[in-house]
Amino acid sequence: MKRVWKTPETDNYILFEDMLKQSHLLIAGATGSGKSVLENGLITTALKDSPAAVQFILIDPKMTELQEYAALPHTLIYADSERPEKMIEGLNQSIEIMMQRFSYMKRHQLKDFDGGHIYVIIDELADLMTTHKKAVTPLLQRISQLGRAAHVHLIACTQSPLATVIPTPIKVNFDSRVGLRTATAQDSRNILDIKGCELLPNPRETHTAQGYYRQGGTIKLWNIPMYPPEETARRVAYWKQQKPRIIWNG
Ligand SMILES: Nc1ncnc2c1ncn2[C@@H]1O[C@H](COP(=O)(O)OP(=O)(O)OP(=O)(O)O)[C@@H](O)[C@H]1O
Ligand SMILES: [Mg+2]
Repeated sequence: MKRVWKTPETDNYILFEDMLKQSHLLIAGATGSGKSVLENGLITTALKDSPAAVQFILIDPKMTELQEYAALPHTLIYADSERPEKMIEGLNQSIEIMMQRFSYMKRHQLKDFDGGHIYVIIDELADLMTTHKKAVTPLLQRISQLGRAAHVHLIACTQSPLATVIPTPIKVNFDSRVGLRTATAQDSRNILDIKGCELLPNPRETHTAQGYYRQGGTIKLWNIPMYPPEETARRVAYWKQQKPRIIWNG
């Protein structure tokens, strides 16, 4: 039997809950547009669940954004550019888990995996693609095509949603997208097929963030919430402390 632990409070971060339910999520915006804040929001929200229900593979080319989550019991792999081969290993391991899940599903005649979710989070896709495009492209292609049924989800952030950074055959599999403030109208079109992101206010000045969230056929403008850093730190500390006591098979 699978047991699921929850932290005591429920929260009102409904937008993040919704984004975590998507098969894959592509987040684009200029520097300072709030990509990392959004990523932190998704991870903090996911941390209401135990490592039996939610796991992470974190790819952090900038080595700053996701480090805080490296030692969580949820984190299967944390990879930064210090050891680039580990970033590829992270993607390979995602595929391995995905294939194991497919064979389990086949054995049990399931159309959808009946266990937890793995989020493969890439903080800056452009950095990864500039240095490792050849190795990374087929791996992302595979996960973006097949991940959904196996509950393996990609969450990728990028400053520039260009075809060189995210090749079209991969991009089309990201059915859910977030357009934060972009540098140009063309960047806005690249992420959402419409202009408008270039007109959003600058979060560094307003201390709020807005973004267009495209999900299915609809695009809506949202205020993006931000967790107080203490809340994220509290959840991280809670789970780190649980680490030695958690036993799970899988
Ligand atoms: N949802 C939000 N609510 C309030 N303030 C925000 C929000 N998002 C971003 N900000 C403000 O904008 C700053 C920059 O955000 P963030 O670091 O997430 O940008 P980024 O897109 O990751 O930039 P980079 O591409 O340089 O990594 C934050 O430090 C914060 O002050
Ligand atoms: Mg960032």
